[in-house]
Amino acid sequence: MRKKRIKRIAVLTSGGDAPGMNAAIRAVTRTAIHENMKVFGVCQGYAGLIAGDFLPLGPRDVGGIIHLGGTILRSARSREFKTEAGRNKALAALQAKKIDAAIIIGGNGSQTGAYALSQLGLPVVGIASTIDNDLAGSEITIGVDTAMNIALEAIDRLKTTAASHKRAFLVEVMGRDCGYLALVAGISGGAEVIAVPEAPCRPEDIARELKEAYERGKSHGICVIAEGAEFKAADIASYFREHHERIGFELRLTALGHVQRGGAPGVFDRFLATRLGAAAVEALVRGEENVLTGLMKGAIVTTPLSEVVRAKKTLDTDLLRMAHILSR
Ligand code: F6P
Repeated sequence: MRKKRIKRIAVLTSGGDAPGMNAAIRAVTRTAIHENMKVFGVCQGYAGLIAGDFLPLGPRDVGGIIHLGGTILRSARSREFKTEAGRNKALAALQAKKIDAAIIIGGNGSQTGAYALSQLGLPVVGIASTIDNDLAGSEITIGVDTAMNIALEAIDRLKTTAASHKRAFLVEVMGRDCGYLALVAGISGGAEVIAVPEAPCRPEDIARELKEAYERGKSHGICVIAEGAEFKAADIASYFREHHERIGFELRLTALGHVQRGGAPGVFDRFLATRLGAAAVEALVRGEENVLTGLMKGAIVTTPLSEVVRAKKTLDTDLLRMAHILSR
C-alpha cells in the first residue's frame, strides 16, 4: 500500500469513444473533489498527455454531460505513446504538472497503455470502457449496452421491411475482433444467422440457413455479422450476387459502423460509468493502484492491470447453438 496521499489526479479517455464515458468523467471529477483532490482532464487521450494538454476540472465543468455520448475530453489512438520515448514524454508532462496518479477510461489498448504508464512508477487506475466488450476484468464494459440497443433497433427495423418484401438482410455490427455485440444483438433481435469471429461461418452456410428459414415459412431472413468475422460482410454480399441464380434471393448489406458508437448513453451505461468512476477514485484513496475497476457478478471490483492486459476474454459460443434452435 502507498503511503503518500494523492492530491492531484489526471483523467483521460482513450481509444474509441463509448457512450457513458462522460458519466465516468463526471463521477471521477466530483468524487475526487469530494476527497479534496485537484482534477485535471487530459485532452485527446495519450496524444494529449504527451503534449501536456491539461484542463483543470471543477464540479461545474462536468455539469450537464451525464446524458451526452462521446467524450468531452475527446479521444485519440496515439502511436507515439506505444514507444518508450512517447511514454517518457507523457510521464515528464505529468510530473511537470505535479500529478500524483492517473485514471484511464478506455478499452484494451488504453489499459495496455495504462499498465505501461504504471510500470514507469505512476499510480494508475483504469476504468473499463469500450463498446467491444473484449476487456478482461469486467463482464460488461461502459458503452456495450447502448451500442447493443442501437444495433437491436436497426435489426428490428430491418426485419419489418425485410418481411414486407420477403428479403434477406446482412447487418454488420462493430466489435473489432470480438463477436459479443453481434451475438447478443443477434439473439435479442431473433436473427436467423449470427456470424462471429469466434466460430466458423462460411458464405455458403449463411445461404443455406437463410434458404431453410424461407422454406420453414419465414417471410424475412436476417444475418447479423460481426465486423471481425472470418468472412467479411462485403465479401458475403458479393458471394450472394455472384451466385444469385443458384441461391434464389438477394442479400442486402447494412453496415451500422460508427452509428453504434454515437448518441446518448442509456441508463445501464450511465449507472455503470458512474459507479466505476467513483470506484476508481475510491481505490486511489484506499491506496490501491495499478488496477482496473470493472463489474463482476453485479459487484464493482478491482483487478490488477497486469492480469487484465494478459488475460483474454472469451465468448460463450454455446449461445450460438441456442440461437440456432430458437431461430427455427
Ligand atoms: O474499439 C471500438 C471500435 O468502435 C471497434 O468496434 C471498431 O473496430 C473500431 O473502434 C473502429 O475504430 P475507429 O473509430 O478508430 O475507426
